[in-house]
Amino acid sequence: MSTKENQTDLKSAKGTKDYSKYFEGVSYKVLEETETLKKIRVNGREAVVFSEPAYSEGKRRGKEEIQVLGFEGIPEDMLGVGTGKKYAIYTYGCQMNTHDTEIMAGIFEDMGFTRTDDEKKAAVILFNTCAVRENAEDKVFGELGRLKHLKLENPELVLGVCGCMSQEEAVVNKILRSYPHVDLVFGTHNIHRLPVLLRESFMSKEMVIEVWSKEGDIVENMPKLRTDGLKAWVNIMYGCDKFCTYCIVPYTRGKERSRMPEDIISEVRELARQGYKEVTLLGQNVNAYGKDFVDRKYGFGDLLDDIHKIDIPWVRFTTSHPRDFDDHLIEVLAKGGNLLEHIHLPVQSGSSSMLKMMARKYTREHYLELVAKIKKAIPNATLTTDIIVGFPGETEEQFQETLSLVEEVGYDLAFTFIYSPRHGTPAASMEDNISEEEKKSRLQQLMDLQNRISRQKNEELRGRVVEVLVEGVSKKDPDVLSGRTRSNKLVNFKGDPSMIGQFAQVRILEPLTWTLNGEAVMEVE
Ligand code: 5AD
Ligand code: SF4
Repeated sequence: MSTKENQTDLKSAKGTKDYSKYFEGVSYKVLEETETLKKIRVNGREAVVFSEPAYSEGKRRGKEEIQVLGFEGIPEDMLGVGTGKKYAIYTYGCQMNTHDTEIMAGIFEDMGFTRTDDEKKAAVILFNTCAVRENAEDKVFGELGRLKHLKLENPELVLGVCGCMSQEEAVVNKILRSYPHVDLVFGTHNIHRLPVLLRESFMSKEMVIEVWSKEGDIVENMPKLRTDGLKAWVNIMYGCDKFCTYCIVPYTRGKERSRMPEDIISEVRELARQGYKEVTLLGQNVNAYGKDFVDRKYGFGDLLDDIHKIDIPWVRFTTSHPRDFDDHLIEVLAKGGNLLEHIHLPVQSGSSSMLKMMARKYTREHYLELVAKIKKAIPNATLTTDIIVGFPGETEEQFQETLSLVEEVGYDLAFTFIYSPRHGTPAASMEDNISEEEKKSRLQQLMDLQNRISRQKNEELRGRVVEVLVEGVSKKDPDVLSGRTRSNKLVNFKGDPSMIGQFAQVRILEPLTWTLNGEAVMEVE
């Protein structure tokens, strides 16, 4: 199943020839056009486009077999190019991006670069971006604008944009039009080509654009720079085929494709051997794991069952979709041990008719049944969720159904969002008939309710002793240690710094809404 890909040659980049839509509204002059690239001049800056984002391609779901590619390593002429140079990566969005940043950092370090947080010292600055809501995008454009002066002071600086925003046609268009000081744009499918793209960027004065709009492959053996030695992210699958009507992810991250179980298991075993205490299995939709396998029947429950046998103390996973949460998975999770009882189960809305408009493929009743099943099998389960308010057409009554569901489930935590229209998604063309004021008021009501419930849930822990993985000293007080419980709650307590990296038993003395304050105890109760 494994094929190699020519990494060292930009001419192998996939190009499409219809640029008309892509450059809509941008006045540009074509300088050169070949089979594989196009050179254009826009706003006084030349850009070389090897391939560009195209939604029509990004949303395609064909029958082709998923390719598992092997990372070829750093091209010889790029080894050592970073010696004495620094890179900075700013990461936005979900854990998938956090982990992609670890991969890019690994690639940079293999080229000899070292990391810096000081943008003035960086030879390369990358923005690893998120496209899920407009405010995340606005922040990135704000930062790109702010960094213009750095480019003027240091014309050698390479300023790059990658991640989900790069996969959007409108974003690349806007960069060409209004941010000509950006040097490099690449997407979520071609991170492994970073050395080649950097080479091109160092050698030329042109803006380099290579975004692959495809269903996606899997690239194994990528370098990864994991720095904390304690907690590690492990991808188990990529992409999403759910196409919820509000969501951009299926367009930016491609189709659902699972890594081979043996690759995941050997990565987790290796992390255990290195002394990692916690792994988080990552995917846009982790419990759709394995659905794409043609040669075997092996799902997320089977994978967790196998990881359960590995000697790694804590195993988390995110994110799961209620539709794919099957009985076998619940059965395996109920075994406990290293499988933590924290389940993040985004509901999005408590109204069945809203869920239908969102194309979530479950009803309120189905969701509540699932929650009841989970609570029965795993009595100490902690549930968290994501909720959107102000989806087009959401009535007051439908919003009230969300509030009542939140009350009924009793989440420990909820991430709450105002709906943000995403260009190219079905919901973006639905009539948005709710005022900004109303949306903000609904969000506030929901947050007030959830805060009250979170506080109550934490109150139940008063006086109890919980197990905490000690991560470091508290940001607010250097005499206080902080860490997380099995259910991912943040705990602050007085203790000896030698406990960092270890598990501690902590008695909860002061439960707050989002954190718990406590004291270390010597014995488990
Ligand atoms: N507007 C608001 N929130 C969104 N999410 C995804 N797309 C949108 C959107 N267009 C939220 C969902 C998802 C979380 C990661 O982001 O709640 O679960
Ligand atoms: Fe987006 Fe829905 Fe896929 Fe989650 S399941 S990534 S919300 S399309």
